[in-house]
Amino acid sequence: MDMATKEKLLALLEQHTDEYASGQEIAEQLGISRAAVWKAIRALERDGCRIHGVTGLGYRLESAGNRIHAAGIHRFLSDKCDFCDLRVYPVLPSTNDTAKALAAEGAPEGTVVIAESQTAGKGRMRRQFFSPGGTGIYMSILLRPQISAEDALDITTAAAAAVADAIDAETGKKSAIKWVNDVFLDGKKVCGILTEGAMGMEDGSLEYAILGIGINAVEPEGGFPEELREIAGAVWPADSKINDCRNRLIAAVLTRFFAYYRELDAKTFLRSYQSRSLLRGKSVNVIRGNTVRPAIAGEIDNACRLQVTYEDGSEEWISSGEVSVHSTEGYR
Ligand code: BTN
Repeated sequence: MDMATKEKLLALLEQHTDEYASGQEIAEQLGISRAAVWKAIRALERDGCRIHGVTGLGYRLESAGNRIHAAGIHRFLSDKCDFCDLRVYPVLPSTNDTAKALAAEGAPEGTVVIAESQTAGKGRMRRQFFSPGGTGIYMSILLRPQISAEDALDITTAAAAAVADAIDAETGKKSAIKWVNDVFLDGKKVCGILTEGAMGMEDGSLEYAILGIGINAVEPEGGFPEELREIAGAVWPADSKINDCRNRLIAAVLTRFFAYYRELDAKTFLRSYQSRSLLRGKSVNVIRGNTVRPAIAGEIDNACRLQVTYEDGSEEWISSGEVSVHSTEGYR
């Protein structure tokens, strides 16, 4: 089944949820045969949509279930994000890789690649990112910012603040950010971010950036795999029946992220980012090469550097690139 046909049919049905659309009308609007309409209806039903069909009247969408789909996201998206081209796939190796391929073909800023599951989801430091189907959000946003590679670090930080804001808005809870950019809810990591960039050939400026966001939206049936159980959490529990929750959360993340991105120079994301710091006052290990130094974490400054105070009383402001910080109190 052609993905685009299915998505277009769903978009069309969503515009008419209070009336029936006849097979003939749908076929004409989508430029396909009535047999193809029937097949697309069946495909949507297999994906969890409930569609009511009445002979002589046509089809009416009762529920799109908990499927991620472009029309469902657009319903909750700010009109300031109308330029976004949302491309939803059932499965991809990695949304970051697909977004990179699209970027290389010249796709514009605002191209957003989303997958229901990933077979080779990538985390930072060459780790894998657990990407099961039906419960997570795996999304990569193509950006073409006019900024230096150094300032591009702000993209990831702004995204962490945007995800945290969006989770709070959708759940009524208070999420936190573990420096540098992991989002935590109820003491567990619910979101990781991997930004990858390509440099321009001539002047070393950034040609494009791929902002990859992975969110454990709903807890997978049977929980997380053993090795992740201590650290990973989800925004909603496995038994929650929140229809459309992933579409809403994706829309909320995009809306907030692009608001911050438009004001990246003014760093309007900082207030949210700094106020959410999970490490403030916590014991941490500062790891630089082979040396590990225990310290207490303090404030985060406007360059997103973390203040640490070592056991001998000396202080340092550390930047994300040079060291890694591990909390000694359970957060990794
Ligand atoms: C981390 O916590 O180490 C970062 C995880 C980033 C995962 C996301 S999921 C969407 C995008 N595609 C990928 O392959 N990785 C990122």
